[in-house]
Amino acid sequence: MSAAEPVDLTVADLHPALGDPALTSMNFLNEVSERYPAAVSLAAGRPYEEFFDLAAVHRHLDTFHRHLVDDLGHPPEQARRVLLQYGRTKGIVHHLIARNLAVDEGIAVDPQDVVVTVGCQEAMFLVLRALRAGPTDVLLAVAPTYVGLTGAARLVDLPVWPVAPGSSGVDLTDLADQLHRARSAGLRPRACYLMPDFANPSGVSIDTAHRRRLLELATQEDLLLLEDNPYGLFHSEDGPRPPTLKAMDSGRRVVYLGSFAKTVLPGARVGYVVADQRVALPDGRVGPLADQLAMIKSMVTVNTSPIAQAVIGGRLLEHGCSLVAANTRERSAYTRNLRHLVAGLTRRFPPGEDGAAAAVRWTVPAGGFFVVVTVPFPVDDALLDRSARDYGVLWTPMAHFYDDSLPVHALRLSVSAVTPEQIDVGLDRLAALITDEVARRAG
Ligand SMILES: Cc1ncc(COP(=O)(O)O)c(C=O)c1O
Repeated sequence: MSAAEPVDLTVADLHPALGDPALTSMNFLNEVSERYPAAVSLAAGRPYEEFFDLAAVHRHLDTFHRHLVDDLGHPPEQARRVLLQYGRTKGIVHHLIARNLAVDEGIAVDPQDVVVTVGCQEAMFLVLRALRAGPTDVLLAVAPTYVGLTGAARLVDLPVWPVAPGSSGVDLTDLADQLHRARSAGLRPRACYLMPDFANPSGVSIDTAHRRRLLELATQEDLLLLEDNPYGLFHSEDGPRPPTLKAMDSGRRVVYLGSFAKTVLPGARVGYVVADQRVALPDGRVGPLADQLAMIKSMVTVNTSPIAQAVIGGRLLEHGCSLVAANTRERSAYTRNLRHLVAGLTRRFPPGEDGAAAAVRWTVPAGGFFVVVTVPFPVDDALLDRSARDYGVLWTPMAHFYDDSLPVHALRLSVSAVTPEQIDVGLDRLAALITDEVARRAG
């Protein structure tokens, strides 16, 4: 694209979200990795591709087809129609998602309260579109936050108010303060978005006691919580996982957002939302929020590809609807990588050393894909570009996950799409970059 090209439109005349950093972030990061294909990528939060299996996709499809015929009693032509025709707006694997949530998370869900979506991204968009009713509405979100959430909020003209994470994953005092500040300013906080398990990008998880207090606060303040949980299954420590907020939610405070991108296949583009909140309708009837979301969905994507849903459904059926069972290999690979990365950082920046090493810190998450490294200089896109070009390593500037333009002295590393050997090479290159950058600034 050249500046001298004749133009037909200007971006200033399009939706104000276009050109906003929240929308350009993902493209920028993809472009950098395309420009430097030889660089080791500790940037991508994608699942490990060696586990992809095309033959299994065909088998899953067949498994789901047999389920339609044998378990649900569909005659052959109806089963074919379910898979190949336009379909139910709320989806065709809702009953299996409800079973999965019961088996893996202890969440009791009426399948009618589930909307199957085109990835979790569409689920976020539908929920934000529904909640944003007027110009005084705002969304609270624990910062740093997932850029896909910020971008979706921009597209529906919903300002995002950051809430401090504190050391627990959500600072409840700050959450209450932000709520009161917003309300005193005449604004209407519609919900608070958060990722209680191994958040993207921070890697932080909220402990059970804090989850309980968060739900109590949400009840006191009449606030909805949007719980996004793509990484919860990938805990690296033995023992039970903390319950999801939705599992603890006895008052329909929590809208639960799910993704099969990391637990089955990102290419299927299937996610879902559990929206059991009761909505009063103008004619006096009451229906689930899920039905309102489906109404929006019918005007956005019509329905989620039934073929893609069938692949997910087949995988669920083949593992007794347990994604925990389906992901034992994945979980152990991600755990191994996370430990390898943390040990590698410790070796390259030993505690107690002077110089560059002394000021480098990192998080040690109990699972998930992400580690945040804090360094003694601001980390921006120009540094990422130089890192890719001159050092051959990619990572994500943490500034992308904050909704302001303040400098951030941190970067995110991801362990999901690499081998331990690639982690070693990537960390050697990152350590060289950090050492050189510290020396450059000192000299
Ligand atoms: C926190 C979070 N939510 C949602 C998504 C998007 O999920 P999907 O691929 O199902 O749209 C991601 C993807 O990386 C994510 O990290």
